[in-house]
Amino acid sequence: MNILVIGSGGREHAFAYKFRQSQLCQNLYIMPGNAGTAQLGINVELNPLKFDEVGQFCLDNQIGLVLVGPEEPLVKGIRDYFESQTELKHIPMVGPGKNGAILEGSKDWSKAFMMRHGIPTAAYKSFSSQNLSDGLDYLNQHAMPVVLKADGLAAGKGVLILNNREEATHELKLMIQEAKFGNAGSTVVIEEFLEGIECSVFVLVDGSSYVILPEAKDYKRIGEGDTGLNTGGMGAISPVPFADEAFMQKVKTRIVEPTIQGLKSEGINYKGFIFIGLMKVGDEPFVIEYNCRMGDPETEVVLPRIQSDLVELMLACGTGNLANCKLQTDPRHAATVMLVSEGYPGDYAKGFPITELEEASGSVLFHAGTKFKPETGEIVSNGGRVLAVTSLATTLSEALETSKSNALKIDFKNKYFRRDIGFEFVS
Ligand code: AMP
Ligand code: GLY
Repeated sequence: MNILVIGSGGREHAFAYKFRQSQLCQNLYIMPGNAGTAQLGINVELNPLKFDEVGQFCLDNQIGLVLVGPEEPLVKGIRDYFESQTELKHIPMVGPGKNGAILEGSKDWSKAFMMRHGIPTAAYKSFSSQNLSDGLDYLNQHAMPVVLKADGLAAGKGVLILNNREEATHELKLMIQEAKFGNAGSTVVIEEFLEGIECSVFVLVDGSSYVILPEAKDYKRIGEGDTGLNTGGMGAISPVPFADEAFMQKVKTRIVEPTIQGLKSEGINYKGFIFIGLMKVGDEPFVIEYNCRMGDPETEVVLPRIQSDLVELMLACGTGNLANCKLQTDPRHAATVMLVSEGYPGDYAKGFPITELEEASGSVLFHAGTKFKPETGEIVSNGGRVLAVTSLATTLSEALETSKSNALKIDFKNKYFRRDIGFEFVS
């Protein structure tokens, strides 16, 4: 079968890597892909948001499975477009329609969804320009720290944690009156701050049945010791030591099942991943956020631990046959360390040749922001996050050590990485 992966990051490289291992995969296309995916399949220079062009590509290339990596095409309705076209609607797609992607596309909607279905989450209220003065009153009485969240997609930047009431008031006004996050912040969720430890749980849903994939923990801050600005993710580990059986049982019965039941009861035929960002407060799980896709770099540790045929699993999701699937997982520990460009998540320079890639032994490299330069035959840095270095081992410390030593060897100008991924769990 011919497969199309939509996206261009480490997550999409990891999908391509697993798809390539399957006997079922014939031609593999990645739209638009990166220098890593080009080694596994054919990169396609089309814009995934031009749904008619994506559809025509699928017809021209007899695509039998579409995997949508990032949230934007989902929130903007790529599935809805495919389902509206007679010749496309039979193509199995992993990724929900607009009515499911809203779990990520609107924080106000997803909070109200959790309330409707009794799913544990932080207390909140939403405000817009219509009731800004109520919002300011609400903030005035709110305990500090407080969390302000832009309702819409804000490229991972729309969440502010504020310790100080004046600052919180200022930021709320900036979001609503000055459009600090554009339209995404015209509605703001004001939320209670939860003190705890985070982990992420991934659920594959076929509209009715579901499979829980290995959990992961990512490291979002740029600086060691979890300091500095938030990034897309500087590294990840799986499994997560504190997500033991008792905790995961609570996650399943209090969060996963009510979520899937809730979607069904609201007539949402959700086919794709649900990424549940959790806070463990004491021993209890609370939902911090839903995403309608896999995480990046979490995918780079979750997929290497899946031993089942990933094409089979994705097809079962796309065709509503997950009930017949049994997930086989690798009990070993996976760790990934992300090499980034100095300056990220702010401004950074790119276009620097990446060398010593072949020196990295015992790890799998998933390219994120890389590009092949045909003029020189070089692979160059082409983004903030450049390369994920993933290792599997029987202990977490071994997996981390291997990734770190390879992260040191691989070289490009302005390389930076965190040396302390997994720090809470290793001595
Ligand atoms: P999000 O964009 O929703 O993933 O939020 C970004 C980060 O903000 C999360 O990964 C958490 O670290 C933090 N965060 C979000 N909501 C809360 C909350 N209610 N309490 C504490 N931290 C939060
Ligand atoms: N690593 C967090 C995310 O993918 O949203």
